Amino acid sequence: MSKLARILLVSLALSLSLGAGSALAQAEAGLRLAPAPVNRLDDESLQRGARDFINYCLTCHTAQYMRYNRLEDIGLTPAEITDNLMFATQKIGDTMTVAMTPADAEKWFPAPPPDLTLEARVRGRDWLYNYLLGFYRDEKSASGWNNIVFPNVAMPHVLWQLSGTNKLVETEFEEQGKAEGAAIAAKGLSRVEEKPGGKYALLTVATDVPGTMTRAQYEAFVGDLVNYLDYMGEPIKNQRIHLGIVVLLFLGVLFVFAYALKREYWKDLH
Ligand code: HEC
Repeated sequence: MSKLARILLVSLALSLSLGAGSALAQAEAGLRLAPAPVNRLDDESLQRGARDFINYCLTCHTAQYMRYNRLEDIGLTPAEITDNLMFATQKIGDTMTVAMTPADAEKWFPAPPPDLTLEARVRGRDWLYNYLLGFYRDEKSASGWNNIVFPNVAMPHVLWQLSGTNKLVETEFEEQGKAEGAAIAAKGLSRVEEKPGGKYALLTVATDVPGTMTRAQYEAFVGDLVNYLDYMGEPIKNQRIHLGIVVLLFLGVLFVFAYALKREYWKDLH
């Protein structure tokens, strides 16, 4: 094998194993996630997500690396940002912080709410989407809520009025394979857990009391929110995608001319 071929093979193997590594980091054993319906080039979805993030999440969480005026990148005007999305005391160049101090947060919650600017890069879009679908009622937990994606999380289900309340559905199986088969058949979010006595349980959530939104509306709402969280983790990526499209178009046009030139040169030889 030539040296070049070997270098190419090694770099291909490396990039494959790195890719597999990051996918594994996101998908915990036994946890099956539904794909998040997001499109980071959809400005309207990002605007709805930004509004919902500010209304429902910024009360406890910060986004301290995100400035309000960056929202102009997703099509909002400075007036829309200051009038609809900010408190009167803040300036448009400020970052998204909250009034709650870390000391208060520690007093009120067993685990403090982390900053969410880069959360989508840590957890991934699918994880976040399913996390916001995965809350269910649990009388045994301090907040009254639990989560199938993040067991025993200290965050209460702040969107329950919209989503309604879910209950946990647990089905037991004698073998791991059967439980995993049922998880695939169930589609969407589920978790397979080992139980004492060598049994396996398939955990899913089901609506108990409906909220103000239908299931489909809530899924779209959470999709917008996750789209925004993903955008916020790397705002510049949208510019890269746009530039990439321009470059491909340019290469397409260049190809037409290069091909015409080639035919012109070879015309007499054929
Ligand atoms: C009432 C306060 C409160 C509100 C409002 C709130 N959260 Fe949380 N959140 C918390 C707390 C507390 C934690 C830490 C939980 C833990 O580590 O057990 C948390 C944790 C999280 C995590 C997991 C962080 C990690 O990787 O460990 C995510 C993601 C998250 N919140 C997203 C959101 C989103 C999105 C919203 C808006 C829809 C929101 N939160 C609204 C209190 C809140």
